Parts: sequence; structure tokens; C-alpha cells
Amino acid sequence: MIVKPHPLFIAARMILPLVVLAMACTEHPLLRKRKEEELWTGWNQWQIKPEDSLTLYGHELIARTAYYLGPGGTVARITNGMNCQNCHYEGGTRPWGNNYGGVASTYPKKRARSDKVESIPKRVNDCFQRSLNGKALDTTSLEMRAILAYLKWVGEGVPKGTVPRGTGIYKLPYMDRMADTVRGRAVYRSICATCHGTDGQGKPLAGGNGYEYPPLWGPHSFTTGAGLYRISNFAGLAYMNMPYGQADHDKQVISAEQAWDVAAFVLSRPRPVFDVSADWPDPKKRPVDDANGPYLDSFPARQHKYGPFKPLKTWFERMNPAATK
Ligand code: HEC
Ligand code: HEC
Repeated sequence: MIVKPHPLFIAARMILPLVVLAMACTEHPLLRKRKEEELWTGWNQWQIKPEDSLTLYGHELIARTAYYLGPGGTVARITNGMNCQNCHYEGGTRPWGNNYGGVASTYPKKRARSDKVESIPKRVNDCFQRSLNGKALDTTSLEMRAILAYLKWVGEGVPKGTVPRGTGIYKLPYMDRMADTVRGRAVYRSICATCHGTDGQGKPLAGGNGYEYPPLWGPHSFTTGAGLYRISNFAGLAYMNMPYGQADHDKQVISAEQAWDVAAFVLSRPRPVFDVSADWPDPKKRPVDDANGPYLDSFPARQHKYGPFKPLKTWFERMNPAATK
């Protein structure tokens, strides 16, 4: 006689494939969260092939720019004594350390600041002129070719057109209030001054080529045309990386609020002035925290430097409905 299966068994047999199918289609939420949080960690300098002398030289130029190109440079004397690596940590490979993971994959690309399609050498020269307060490198020079080779090597394996997570500078959420230079000074004195100096001038290396601790303001620091002169960039970089050696993407030492306030304090100090009159040919695309102006809106200039940024952001989005950032 044929045994009739129990109705529950029949139901289970019908439901089980659906359950398996459902499990295959959806990931466990924890797994999905982990994937989203996965940061690009990149290569490190020791993985450069020893015979690839051009890439090795490129790494040298990024890590020890001052030795080759600083005020006492052995190749040329065209920069302020800082190293690229002072701001692009571990040769530009550190997650949220202003790394170069998305350079080879996205350039040439149109940039709003110039309203032009920019090549990698053009972007590199931007940092030479604005961040290192120096002169542009000839694009055919050995040094530029080496830096280009290195940036391409860093970006190996990153699919064209994509920006890996953790590339560039971490975007801190805006505060509701204005960033406060007085509170920032207190943060600076208690946390940053031990390394960068109470006068913000950093600590030069004994040999005179580069710094043990780079300057944060004053004549040898980055200019008013540099990316770090935007408070959101400064705050995001400091939040994820400072104090150097103690903070990283896994563990921060200063709070987001302290990062905004200390950024406000440092950026309120004097620094070399860069001629930015040709920037942002389309002024309605000027980022809300570009401190240089002129502005199309009627908010005070001070608000563009220190916030609060949320009202500015609303204005910006109305002017640039297609803009993503
Ligand atoms: C004072 C800090 C500082 C120094 C020094 C500096 N940079 Fe930069 N660099 C920045 C900032 C800030 C950005 C913009 C990051 C952003 O907008 O997300 C940037 C962006 C870049 C980019 C584009 C990255 C991208 O994904 O679009 C390249 C390439 C670059 N720098 C190369 C260099 C090189 C080469 C040097 C040395 C000659 C150098 N930088 C020195 C701060 C600095
Ligand atoms: C333990 C020492 C130390 C402390 C404390 C420290 N920094 Fe730094 N900072 C460094 C070093 C070292 C570098 C350069 C790293 C490199 O070249 O690899 C640096 C680089 C920087 C840079 C980019 C380069 C420049 O000169 O503009 C900024 C901005 C910065 N620090 C901000 C801060 C702020 C803000 C604080 C306090 C919240 C702070 N740092 C605390 C050691 C320190």
C-alpha cells in the first residue's frame, strides 16, 4: 500500500526549494554590510618589481619629494619642502588616506574647477603648484614619467571608470553649526601641537630635506589654492589620519566635531596665497566650502569657509540639479 505523505511533509517539500532560492538571491544582511564597508587597500611599495626602475623612482618622488625637488633638491629646486606623501599617506595607498586608488581608473576626466578634461600629469602639476607651492613639471620629464608610471601601478586592477571605496578623502557629515576657531585652537594645542609645533611650522628633518612633522600653516605650507584649503577636505583627512601613527580608518582619535573645529583654526592662520581667479569658470559649480569666492549666492563669505554648510548645500543642489557631490 502506498503511504500517503503527511501534509506537513508535502508543504515542506514545496517550500524548501523556495527557501533555498530565496537564500541564494539575498545575502545575509551582515555579509552585505561587510561588503559595503570593504575598503580598497591597494598595493604597497615592496610589491614594485625591482627591475621596474621607473615605477620605483616614481615612488621615491612621492615619498621623498623634498630630497629630489625641494629647496635643497638634488634634481631641481621647484617645491616648498613638503612631500606628496605628507598628504597622500603610505605612497598614496592608505584607505581614506587621500590615496591614489582611483587615479588611473578615472583620468583623463572632466573637472569642474577648470571646466576642462584633465590628464593625470595636469592633475599632478596642480598639486605641485598649489599644494607644494611650486612649479609644474615638464610633462615629458623623467620625473613626470616616473610619477605617472607609479600612479598607474598603484591603480592596477581597479576597473576603468570606477572609484574604489576608501579612495581620496573621507567626507564627514556637515555639522549644524559653524566650525569654531576658538574651540579648534584648544584642540590644536592639546593634540596637534606636540608634533606640528605650537606655531604650526612643523619640524624639519635634521638633513634639511623635508620634515619629520610637516607645517600646517605659514610660508612653507600649502597655498590657498590647494585642495586642503577646503575645510571639508582638511577635516576629513585629519579625522581619519591624525595624530599620525595613532588614527586610521579603523580607529579614530579625534571626534568629527574636533576635526571640523581644528580645521577651522588651522585654515584661519596665514598661508601662501595662490591666484585662483581662473578657477570655477562656471561659478555655480563652486563647492559650498570653497573659501575663495566670488559667489553667486548671497550668503556671507565667512559661511563658505566655516559653515554651517547645510543651507549652502540646499542652494547648490538647486543650482546644479544633476550634480552628485
Ligand atoms: C598639502 C597636501 C597635499 C600635498 C603635499 C599633495 N597633495 Fe595631491 N591632493 C591633495 C588633496 C587635498 C587632493 C584632492 C582630494 C579630493 O579632492 O578628494 C589631492 C589630489 C591629488 C590627485 C588626484 C586624486 C584623484 O583621485 O583625483 C593626484 C594625482 C595628486 N593629488 C598627486 C599629488 C602629487 C604627485 C603630489 C606631490 C607632487 C601631491 N599630490 C601633493 C593634497 C595634497
Ligand atoms: C604624532 C605626531 C602627530 C600628531 C600629534 C599630529 N600629526 Fe599631523 N602629521 C604628522 C605626520 C608625521 C604627518 C606626515 C605624514 C607622512 O609624511 O607620512 C602629518 C601630516 C599632517 C597633515 C598634512 C600635511 C600638512 O602639513 O599639511 C595635516 C593636515 C595634519 N597632519 C593635521 C594634523 C592635525 C589637525 C592634528 C591634530 C588633530 C595632527 N595633525 C596631529 C604627525 C602628527
